[in-house]
Amino acid sequence: MWRFFYNLLSLMEFKTTQKNKKNIAFFIKTNPEKMTQLFNQELTEELYKKQVTDFFDQRQNNYDTRYSIERGIRLVELTPIEKGQKILDIATGTGIAAIEASKKLNKTGQILAVDFSSGMLKTAIKKIKQEQLNNIELMQADVDYLSLTDNSFDVILCSSALPWFTNISANLRQWYSWLKVGGIVAFSCYSENAFLTPIIVRLCATMYGIDLPNWNQPLGTPEKCYQILEKAKFREIKITTEQLGAYISLEEAKNWWQGNPTWINPKGNPLQLLSDKQLQTLKRAYDQEIETLATLKGVWQDITTFFVIARK
Ligand SMILES: C[S@@+](CC[C@H](N)C(=O)[O-])C[C@H]1O[C@@H](n2cnc3c(N)ncnc32)[C@H](O)[C@@H]1O
Repeated sequence: MWRFFYNLLSLMEFKTTQKNKKNIAFFIKTNPEKMTQLFNQELTEELYKKQVTDFFDQRQNNYDTRYSIERGIRLVELTPIEKGQKILDIATGTGIAAIEASKKLNKTGQILAVDFSSGMLKTAIKKIKQEQLNNIELMQADVDYLSLTDNSFDVILCSSALPWFTNISANLRQWYSWLKVGGIVAFSCYSENAFLTPIIVRLCATMYGIDLPNWNQPLGTPEKCYQILEKAKFREIKITTEQLGAYISLEEAKNWWQGNPTWINPKGNPLQLLSDKQLQTLKRAYDQEIETLATLKGVWQDITTFFVIARK
């Protein structure tokens, strides 16, 4: 960490030896763009992916909720799947979409379900055994480095995982080549206004001049989804927008961000630059804003979801 601050200060051409957080906080406020660039250099692909696998490994026993199950099932419901087909479920997690697709195939066909989190896959193994499904093969791998045969799948599913990928356009091009001609890609993602993320992003920008990356930004509108698929040569693009949001308690809404410096994003985590005091101030501002949103039903959490389906 200090090596990073040292590099940062030299890059800033500071003529001072003071490596304290006051200077850094000042720099953040006055040079947000450069700050983001510096953070991007620090976060290697390897480090980012370790953060993601650690995060999901920890969630293996409490990942499946009514909400996470419903959204995975909904993607499969909307996807045209026919008996006997060969399906690839990318970033399968605990296997929610793969299991639903297996039921739709009704003991025919074949599903390859891939994820790099061993924890999530452990839960998937248990569930597949319980359901006695024998047409799902699980594989632990980083999808970015997966070598599969071109023109070999009828359907590629990716439920609620694409925003975690570091180069979405490259992934879609790769998936296009794995699909048979006429094959279907189906993924789900969220509006850039979804969850309580926009509040933290806005507060960070106004209070500290920090450009905090929003995880849902790259696929955050139907237009963006459409354009990225069109560029990857997909056709017959269909986007179904559904509101999966709900009222949550004031406490839940406040706990949604606990004032911690964690912010897993392929573009980096500028929250780490804030001092403990700055984080506390930010958390107070966040809580205050959440309180203004409270109603008798609770705090509304928007989860505008895009179910995106296209053909090769
Ligand atoms: C939000 S979960 C979605 C899981 C599941 N598809 C669902 O609908 O519930 C995101 C999943 O993406 C996986 N993931 C992210 N990047 C990946 C990569 N490059 N290769 C393999 N898995 C990846 C994570 O391990 C995690 O299980």
